[in-house]
Amino acid sequence: MKTFSLVLFFLSGTLTLIGQSASRFFNPSDMISTGVYYYPEHWDSSQWERDLKNIASMGFEYTHYAEFAWAQLEPEEGKYDFSWLDRAMDLAARYNLKVIMCTSTATPPAWLERKHPEVFEMNENGRRSDHGSRQTASFSSSYYRQYALVMVEKLAEHYGKDKRIMGWQIDNEPRVFYDHSPDAQDRFRKWLREKYGNMDALNETWGTAFWSQHYNDFSQVNIPLRSQWGMNLNQIIDHTRFATWETASFLDDQARVIRKHARPDQWITTNYIPGYESGHIGMSRELDFVTYTKYMVAGFSRGIGRNGYRLGDPESIAMSNDFFRPIQGMYGVMELQPGQVNWGTVNSQPLPGAVHLWLWHVFAGGAKLACTYRYRAPLYGYEQYHYGIVSYDGITPTPGGLEYRQFIDEINLLRSAYDPKAKPPVDYLSRKTAILFNHENIWGMEQNRQTTQWNSLGHIVKYYKTLKSFGAPVDFIRDTADFGNYPVIIAPAYQQLDRDLVDKWTRYVNAGGNLILTCRTGHKDREIHLWPAKFAEPIYKLIGAEIDFYDLPAAGIPDTVVMDNRKYAWNSWGEILSPVQGTDIWATYSGNFYSGRPAITFRRLGKGTVTYVGADSKDGILEKEVLKKIYNRLKIHIETYPEGVMVEYRDGFGIAVNYGDKDYELDLPAGARILTGTGTLKQAGVTVWKY
Ligand code: GAL
Repeated sequence: MKTFSLVLFFLSGTLTLIGQSASRFFNPSDMISTGVYYYPEHWDSSQWERDLKNIASMGFEYTHYAEFAWAQLEPEEGKYDFSWLDRAMDLAARYNLKVIMCTSTATPPAWLERKHPEVFEMNENGRRSDHGSRQTASFSSSYYRQYALVMVEKLAEHYGKDKRIMGWQIDNEPRVFYDHSPDAQDRFRKWLREKYGNMDALNETWGTAFWSQHYNDFSQVNIPLRSQWGMNLNQIIDHTRFATWETASFLDDQARVIRKHARPDQWITTNYIPGYESGHIGMSRELDFVTYTKYMVAGFSRGIGRNGYRLGDPESIAMSNDFFRPIQGMYGVMELQPGQVNWGTVNSQPLPGAVHLWLWHVFAGGAKLACTYRYRAPLYGYEQYHYGIVSYDGITPTPGGLEYRQFIDEINLLRSAYDPKAKPPVDYLSRKTAILFNHENIWGMEQNRQTTQWNSLGHIVKYYKTLKSFGAPVDFIRDTADFGNYPVIIAPAYQQLDRDLVDKWTRYVNAGGNLILTCRTGHKDREIHLWPAKFAEPIYKLIGAEIDFYDLPAAGIPDTVVMDNRKYAWNSWGEILSPVQGTDIWATYSGNFYSGRPAITFRRLGKGTVTYVGADSKDGILEKEVLKKIYNRLKIHIETYPEGVMVEYRDGFGIAVNYGDKDYELDLPAGARILTGTGTLKQAGVTVWKY
């Protein structure tokens, strides 16, 4: 196989696409720009100028306004007050700070919520939320949507032509509401009517013949009670689709209103929590690009070694970068933890250097924006004890604040070495791999987990971690994407598919692509029904094997898979395969009644290859060895970075970060010039070089 030229052919498309979309709003030679949230409404106005001046003198390039300020912007119904924000805008401009303007839809004012208490989300038990927090008004409330859009329009009319505004952030960490209010009920039924058109279609898809669930009319259909045992699975899936659509369409509605008034060089985005399985990320078509928020140290991750919890999960930022970037070819980070937080299970101090490491890791993924929540540590409100860039006195930089300043200084150094013609190393590009992701697979598998040992996202992460240890650039892509951009595609546990996707995979492989499918793939159709055929039959021809049955060993009693004379433990999911002639057997089961039967197969098809990994290992080592075998066979050079060490390239710079607790000696190419850091990468260390 002519691997090398194949790889270059595969990659030519991607690079142009990414370059073009990013340069529309951002000056390529800036590479990344750094900003910080400021809430003028939280502080005595006599301090605003001092604060904005200090923000600018630390090197920040923009600030972020009005995110939760609806009550200050529209203190009474229909009475708007932009005077305070105008003043804050003038002060930002005085110190050359650009502004991200936000729609404060996450915090409706009391006058609105008291006048129309029906805007509050209603839970399964009929209890409404109340004023006093945020994100309590449901995106399914028609009053709320109406009032919000009027307010957004006023804001956009006032600021849309203002050159000092670089872009807009809609809402804050938009969430998906499982609202049971009458409004939500009506909108759900309308959504179902549009989807199905008639009751027969709904009854058939929902399988209402089962347990006498038949409906005669859409008015009989309710929002599912998720806590009720045995609830109709399709009803839950459709409601989840509806709820994500409510969020996505509300963001789109806001974006359309802003765009009517905004300058063409003002971009529109929102800041998502990277909850990959929730489904609304990337669903709003009107956003120019997406950004994420990231808090690494809050008691949820142990990281690597004794102090690992002070750095966080090493894959966390990498995976968000690789998930958000491919959605629209570029991405930003809107909130990156500046220091200790207040809302975690254990709010430890990050390790010295952690904030700096996270910032560089964000840069490494190609981000254009790195913004942080928030400049000043709040003195009152729910988030007391939360760190900012400066401390409670409003002037003393926190350790995280100093690390931001260090990063900004280093970026300025990099900017002077920027070369617009620089290309990523050929080796690096040749490893480019896509992971095919559809959140609905996770919804479907979590409904029918079949074993407590199965972890849908964990399964995907095993493959992802391996790719990062190979030093591979990774894109999470949808199955609607152009597969031709990737020499290798992994579709882990792709439970739901249709025959068109199998055909698309087959064409990809025939043309020279290398496809890796893993257990649980193809069991069901897109409406989460098993096939009226042999188990997972639609993929048999493609993988060159049949799947006879699957097995799930009891918790704590793992079985083994043997590959190349080495044993690997598995305890969650194993599919027992019957390969046809011409399909190679790479691994077999051992230790049970199907001992000796195939677990992993590999075949050539057309100009490409298909690997089927039928088992999910306990620790990810089997997955790593399988991928190694494939890349070696394809003659794709891979690195062997230890866990926690990651290396990426962008704009002519190499960036290495170390979340591990051991030093790592970098093997830099001849002629590489280190711009920051050293050849020995210590824990929380960052090294950046020009190659
Ligand atoms: C984020 C949120 C911010 C702020 C922050 C505190 O999730 O978007 O508004 O609350 O947490 O860490």
